[in-house]
Amino acid sequence: MTYTNLELASMGKVPLADELLGSWEIVPNPHSTSQAERSAALVDLGFGKRFSDHMAHATWTAERGWHDFRIEPYEAIAMSPAGAVLHYGQEVFEGLKAYRHADGSIWTFRPTYNAARLNHSSRRLAIPEFEHEAFIGSIVNLVRQDAAWVPDAPGSSLYLRPFIFASEAFLGVRASHRYEYMVVASPSGAYFANGFQPIDVWVEREFHRAGTGGMGDAKTGGNYASSLLPKTVAHDAGYDEVMFLDATMGTDIDELGGMNVFVVMSDGSIRTPRLTGNILAGCTRSSILQLLRDEGRDVREETLPIADVLAGIDSGAVTEMFACGTAAVVTSIGSLSSRDFHVDLPGHETTKAIYDHLTGIQLGTVEDTHGWLYRLA
Ligand code: COI
Repeated sequence: MTYTNLELASMGKVPLADELLGSWEIVPNPHSTSQAERSAALVDLGFGKRFSDHMAHATWTAERGWHDFRIEPYEAIAMSPAGAVLHYGQEVFEGLKAYRHADGSIWTFRPTYNAARLNHSSRRLAIPEFEHEAFIGSIVNLVRQDAAWVPDAPGSSLYLRPFIFASEAFLGVRASHRYEYMVVASPSGAYFANGFQPIDVWVEREFHRAGTGGMGDAKTGGNYASSLLPKTVAHDAGYDEVMFLDATMGTDIDELGGMNVFVVMSDGSIRTPRLTGNILAGCTRSSILQLLRDEGRDVREETLPIADVLAGIDSGAVTEMFACGTAAVVTSIGSLSSRDFHVDLPGHETTKAIYDHLTGIQLGTVEDTHGWLYRLA
């Protein structure tokens, strides 16, 4: 079994959470939400709508490097209208979750993968790297401060959004001389409004998300911005998500913009697009591949022409498809449509089994044989 560079980088040891306490200065929020308000806010959670009382914040300058590591009150930030990110989009971000286990303890999943990917993305966008230990320290100290915001309803978690942006007030086109690292925390339920219902996917042929040599394997706002027009059009037409095809030939499946894609075959094998440099190397994708390989499944990372997948659905060789990501977890694809086709995918059993396995590990009910869980509190 060969590992990707990100998987290898994520295997480094990090200190236990208790050893990282105090590595970020705590500036408590004098206007923290009352318990009653918080309890009301934790009911009927959607995705990414509410935010906890604190956020992590550090700054980078050429003279001082990363400094001023603080957990501060969650509030609006002041920035010059000439701040570079507002003009040239120099920013990267991550997504991970804090899960409450049945005994009340709080855990996260493969945080070093996110730390490594943040730096991978930063390198592509000429942003200074952020040390893994400081990254994990920001998560530990923020979640300890806002532990009451980690929900316990089934399918819920505290979604953590680390990001770095160029904050120098300068309009010339070059890498910024100042950056902010921040983490905000959002108690969240299912990503899709219909919860676990299979999603209807529009296969996009006019617009592409990323092309060769671009930023497709970096987690940066520009890739998501490029997906918004096709997503808006697809949403208005009643579709939940958009599937992007490769930008060179427009023939092969790339990803859904915010999620990777898997195809389940009737012979039991499972396929997913190989990492071409144009798609994001998802943590959920990597974890599912590992779990399937542990089971001895025939798993292939390969070029997946959309025409072959459609023919496979037609012949019965393809039985299920699913999307996966930190936010979306594992979500069945119920149909694929485009200008000239519509196909339904009625099967969802393998997808459900993968969902159960992965979320079982994350929630502490299934053995974590790879040591992916990290205790936060
Ligand atoms: C995640 O899955 O964490 C992501 O960042 C995807 C985002 C589009 C919600």
